[in-house]
Amino acid sequence: MNKEKKLEDLFLDTLKDIYYAEKKILRALPKMRRAASSAELQQAFDLHREQTEGQIERLEQVFELMGKKARGKTCDAIEGIIAEAEEIMEEFKGQPALDAGLISSAQAVEHYEIARYGTLKRWAMDLGMKDAAKLLDETLQEESQTDQNLSSLAEGKVNKKAA
Ligand SMILES: [Fe+2]
Ligand SMILES: [Fe+2]
Repeated sequence: MNKEKKLEDLFLDTLKDIYYAEKKILRALPKMRRAASSAELQQAFDLHREQTEGQIERLEQVFELMGKKARGKTCDAIEGIIAEAEEIMEEFKGQPALDAGLISSAQAVEHYEIARYGTLKRWAMDLGMKDAAKLLDETLQEESQTDQNLSSLAEGKVNKKAA
């Protein structure tokens, strides 16, 4: 019989999923930055690329706290979200609605991350891993703030320009 899979196994699997996703996002953000036409949106992507580096380090700390090697596991969800972002960059290149499309793609990424980090934080607490929960919460707050910043950008000039 196979070993029983428990919450800790699920936690580790999901940690690998988001570790893979963050690395994928780190590579996608400079591309989105180059595609963006608004200076504010370019800055937002620059800032979030820096934050993403820190988030990857936090995940590595969580792996370390568990005595595991940091390893990613292919995340089909982020592959799909990034593929859609690339489609928008191609199809709306040079068009007034491009930045609005980039923001919508970036928010899809943030919402995925918020879902994952929210769950991971919850599970870390359930598993009595307080230090891990704290690290995951720091990232969760950054992702939520990024999502809000993107909403403000969309509500400001970007969507009016696209309309
Ligand atoms: Fe992230
Ligand atoms: Fe993010």
